[in-house]
Parts: sequence; C-alpha cells; structure tokens
Amino acid sequence: MSDFQIHGTDYVQFIVGNAKQAARYYEKLYGFKIVAYQGLETGNRVATSYLLQQNKIRLLLTTPLTPESPLNDHLYRHGDAVKDVAFWVDNARAAWEYATQRGAESVREPEKISDDHGSVVLSAIKTYGDTLHTFVERSNYNGIFIPGFEAVNGKDVQNTGLNFIDHIVGNQPDGQMEPVVNWYQEVLNFHRFWTVDDKDISTEYSSLRSIVVANDNERIKMPINEPADGVKKSQIQEFVDYYGGAGVQHIAMATKDIITTVRQLRENGVDFLETPQSYYDALLGRVGKIDEDIKILSELGILVDADKDGYMLQIFTKPILDRPTVFFEIIQRKGSQSFGKGNFKALFESIEREQARRGNL
Ligand code: FE2
Repeated sequence: MSDFQIHGTDYVQFIVGNAKQAARYYEKLYGFKIVAYQGLETGNRVATSYLLQQNKIRLLLTTPLTPESPLNDHLYRHGDAVKDVAFWVDNARAAWEYATQRGAESVREPEKISDDHGSVVLSAIKTYGDTLHTFVERSNYNGIFIPGFEAVNGKDVQNTGLNFIDHIVGNQPDGQMEPVVNWYQEVLNFHRFWTVDDKDISTEYSSLRSIVVANDNERIKMPINEPADGVKKSQIQEFVDYYGGAGVQHIAMATKDIITTVRQLRENGVDFLETPQSYYDALLGRVGKIDEDIKILSELGILVDADKDGYMLQIFTKPILDRPTVFFEIIQRKGSQSFGKGNFKALFESIEREQARRGNL
C-alpha cells in the first residue's frame, strides 16, 4: 500500500473529432497553452495529440488519424468526450497491481517508455463506461510530458487563472452510483468524502443522487451521480442518453479570483449557464456576508454557496459540444469544501430551461 500513493491528476484526455481545431478552442477561449505534440511528424502513424497546459491543469486532446483506429469507436459512441483521467503516482506498477488484484480490469500492463529525457512508466485500468484511469510514474523523467511527445514553443496565451482541477464528475445510469462508489473504495482505496451534498438533491423536474469519493490526500475528488425520479426527465438521464452510457460530465477548475477569471472567459466567448436575477435577490439572506460585490456576481452569473466552514463561488459553462454532455465548472473555494448543494436548485432550474429549449424535458 505504501507504494500506491496518488499525488493528483496528471492529465485529462479527450478523444475529439478534430484535435487541431479543439486545441485552438481551449487556447483562445480558456487560455490554455499548447505545450506538446504527437502525430505523423513525430512518428505516430495512428493518432495526433496536443497537450495543453494552464498552471497545474493538463488537457490532452487526441484524434484518430485512420478509419481503422479503435479510438473511432469512442468518438462514434460518445462524441468528443473524456477517455482518460490519468493519476500521477509514485509507482505505476504497484498501483496497477493493487487495483487489478482487487478486481480492476487492466487496459494497459505496466510499460516503461524512454527517450533522451528519461523514462516514464504507464499502466491503465478501466473505470465506469469506456473511461480509463492511466497511472503515470514520472519521477525519472524531465521531458515536457511523456516520451513520444515533442515540445511545442507555442505563442504566449493569456492565462485566465485556471489553476488546478478541483473535482471531476462521473454520471452513471440509474442504479449504478453505489456500485461505482464501492468500486472506487475497494479497487483504489478511495473513501467517501463527507459533504452535505451526499443526500438526494432534486428540483421539481431534475433529480439526482450524488456521492463524492476521494483519494488519501483528497486531491482527487470525484462526485458520482445517478438520475433519480422527478416530474420530468433528470438532467443525468439526458446526459446518459446522449453520451451513450456512463461518462465524465464535468471538470471543475479552480481559480484564486473567480471574478477576474469569469470576466476574461466571457470576453473570450465562453458561454455560461444563465442565472435568474431572483437568485441574487435571495443570496445575502441565504449565505450571509461575503467579500464579493453581489452586483458584480450577478452581472457575471457567478453562484455562491455557504456551509459551516465558509463559502464557495462557482459557475457552469454550457455543454462544450453539440451533444448535451460535457461541460466545465469554474470554482473558487473560501473555506467551504462543499459541491454547491444550495446552488443545485438554482442551477437545475437554469439547466432545465436549456433542456426545455432542446425539447428534452
Ligand atoms: Fe461540480
């Protein structure tokens, strides 16, 4: 067990239809810098990948190059979607052995790959749906990413203050939340992260159940959702229908200054969910005194939630593709470790307006 320490998220990989264009989207709208590349020019004949980075967040965008590539199945089934939530570990072999001995399905046996900058050990297991966890051991490597990638001397990009991944949410079909939570506890030694959000959450229409699992150091936090019965279709069910099963619903990225970050993102063209003015009329009474000017929060559409430890500010983008599936959250924590339960109602009402416009409510 001592060898199996997860330090944090290493990267998140999306399989996309056109990584060349997607890379520009993350660069221009979100302020990620293209730092590494792999493709035909570097000797990869089957797929092209761009690695984008902003502070501690690394997004890997991969596109299959040929009709024969198995990555096409992921694209066909899920659209642009998260394939791999990679964990940074001390020992990728020990992590893989630990997980597979406890029932994880292997998708990549431990493999050491090397170049002039040293070596990286990679292994991977399957998690929910078609999603993977790759274990990345990089203590003997000083290159840009992993062997096979070439550093890109990209243009300077305006950093939007997105700092690190706060949490990654996995949506499950009905009845699959508990089995998936148990899997994380048994296979990866995660624990249930106590939060007041671990209860049923519902509006009149959208209902879900959610349990948050976390690793030892709690740098990996993964809310696991499933739909619950409501008057109309749950937004989790809508995701599952359009995604084609279980998958990553949203990635929450933390900032130290959400007002500056969201202002910049809006200027860049990021579309956020709208929040009704009535939400801000009720805000002070609900969360108490906060440092931020409510007028500015309301102009930017930023949500606030409080608990006994403090408060947090958050905002959700609209889906980043035409399927109503994957989106991002921007979050700033000021003491609170919650996931915004008090905002769920306001958020759901907003999501439901979009859902109704798509004819899916
Ligand atoms: Fe979230």
